[in-house]
Amino acid sequence: MTNGVAAALDITADIRGEKLEWARIIHHRVTGPRGAASTISLNVETQQQNFRDKAGLKEKPAITEETHPAEGTGVTGLFHGKPAAICTVDGVVCRVSAECAHLGGILHWNDAEKSWDCPLHGSRYSAAGKLLEGPATHNLFKLQ
Ligand code: FES
Repeated sequence: MTNGVAAALDITADIRGEKLEWARIIHHRVTGPRGAASTISLNVETQQQNFRDKAGLKEKPAITEETHPAEGTGVTGLFHGKPAAICTVDGVVCRVSAECAHLGGILHWNDAEKSWDCPLHGSRYSAAGKLLEGPATHNLFKLQ
């Protein structure tokens, strides 16, 4: 949030032909080849992890109507061929899509927070699939 405000002030000053001393460093920042390569490498690793996570769902036991994880735990797998996430919190079993509502990352169960977390960009969902934090903008689909 603060970077957005700083950028707006810097751009406004630039348009007016003014110089902001505090913005001198960020104003002249240039992304070099090393930084670009690092960003590309990070994105490739993230996508590889997501492919492994999606492929790994086929290796796990299928989720059925009878699947009831132990209290406070969650598992992912395929439910009628679709990526599914199922957990039990406070005695309530919830079954939702295991694909993040942002860009489809496979969610991981967070034992400490009792939430579904996306390893790609950090979206988080409640046990029942309600969006807690973006960048996703909507809840997970419930699987009936
Ligand atoms: S794909 Fe889950 S936060 Fe982007």
